[in-house]
Amino acid sequence: MTASEEVLARLMSPEGLADPYPHYHALRTLAPVCQAGNVYFLSGYDACREVLADPRFRVQDPAWYDVKLPGWRDCTATRLMYQSVQSRNDPDHSRLRRLLAGAFSPRPMAAYRALIERVVPRLLDRMADAGPGPVDLMTQLAYPLPTAVMGEMLGVPEADRERFRDLGTDFFKVMDMYADSSATERMEAAAAAMLDYWTAMIEDRRRAPRDDLTTALTQASDAGLLSADELLGVAIFLFSAGYGTTAALVGNATEQLLASPAEADRLRRDDDYVGAVVEESLRHEPPSQVVPRMTGDSTVLRGVPIPAATLLVCLVGAAQRDPGQYPDPDRFLPSRPGGRVLSFGGGVHFCIGAALSRMEAAVVLPMLFRRFPRLALAGTPERRLALRMRMHASLPVSLRG
Ligand code: HEM
Repeated sequence: MTASEEVLARLMSPEGLADPYPHYHALRTLAPVCQAGNVYFLSGYDACREVLADPRFRVQDPAWYDVKLPGWRDCTATRLMYQSVQSRNDPDHSRLRRLLAGAFSPRPMAAYRALIERVVPRLLDRMADAGPGPVDLMTQLAYPLPTAVMGEMLGVPEADRERFRDLGTDFFKVMDMYADSSATERMEAAAAAMLDYWTAMIEDRRRAPRDDLTTALTQASDAGLLSADELLGVAIFLFSAGYGTTAALVGNATEQLLASPAEADRLRRDDDYVGAVVEESLRHEPPSQVVPRMTGDSTVLRGVPIPAATLLVCLVGAAQRDPGQYPDPDRFLPSRPGGRVLSFGGGVHFCIGAALSRMEAAVVLPMLFRRFPRLALAGTPERRLALRMRMHASLPVSLRG
């Protein structure tokens, strides 16, 4: 094993997944671009930024999976996931992304803001009613908010939204790099349940169209603009991508603020501060820690020769703790000079929901910290142990200090 491979093995251990940052630093110090088997890991900011911005680096798409993972079309989870927008290159990527653009234009965004401003006080009331003991911020606030927003966007009835939380988490194991076999079974079961649910919902929208994205996508599919699998894949991916990541952001930012009382105080006092808090949270604890790309032709990256058709893993969590880009990178410091975070990826695949999730966090954080001025941790936060997604399994808080 090379020194870099040893660091990567430690990174993938339960201790490494609980706190990946020391291992990221070790990896970057050894080599900001390093090889482990057939895969290259990028831990330096410049290397990650360069790869994410450059259209020559493509995403793993159905043609790639046909070669590397024959049989992926026989597994429901991979069949749906790998035909959705994030796993396609042009011309299919532009075709699918265009169909989603309307849901993120100014008119719906204004409606989502109004919804968020209505939903948050209700959730905070419910948290207050659940006291005086500790409450879990993830189940009480961080998940329900984006679940409501995504439910509204896609027209998922309120009664069904909670059920999707666990299903979505299991389904998304397909994106984890190292899923074990029990996770694979849960993933398939979740994918089958999602498939049944969305098939029925699409059928319903065919019979009775509504003003939601599911109806728009169903009509586009009926007009021949996307296949039945693509329709299902896009709807399922969008719902899951939209709530898990945003819940992660809300949980991460809350923990960071609780660990920095002066920053929390400034957030309470200064209406203009929340933007900097959200950006710094995204930098310091990016919810999506891993963004993959492929090389087309062979290339040289930061002096390292890389063969054609090779998988590159941009370790965004490592890149954003690169001291060459961010001095004193392990400190949560919203007042640091702004830079371009890589937390939403880059290039043509740049996250379509970035503005929406930033808006959700920017509304909920000041409301939370103002409503509960003595908000404090009430136990040890538990993290999910997955490299791809940096988020809490639970975040116990006390509302009255
Ligand atoms: C804090 C919250 C979020 C984070 C950290 C996040 C992160 C990401 C990342 C890293 C990518 C991959 C970009 C790339 O390959 O360069 C991505 C893509 C995507 N995200 Fe997000 N996301 C968030 C919220 C959302 C929301 C709220 C939605 C939907 C409402 C969403 C929908 C998507 C879609 C559809 C793509 C694929 C875009 C494409 O391939 O063109 N995301 N996101």
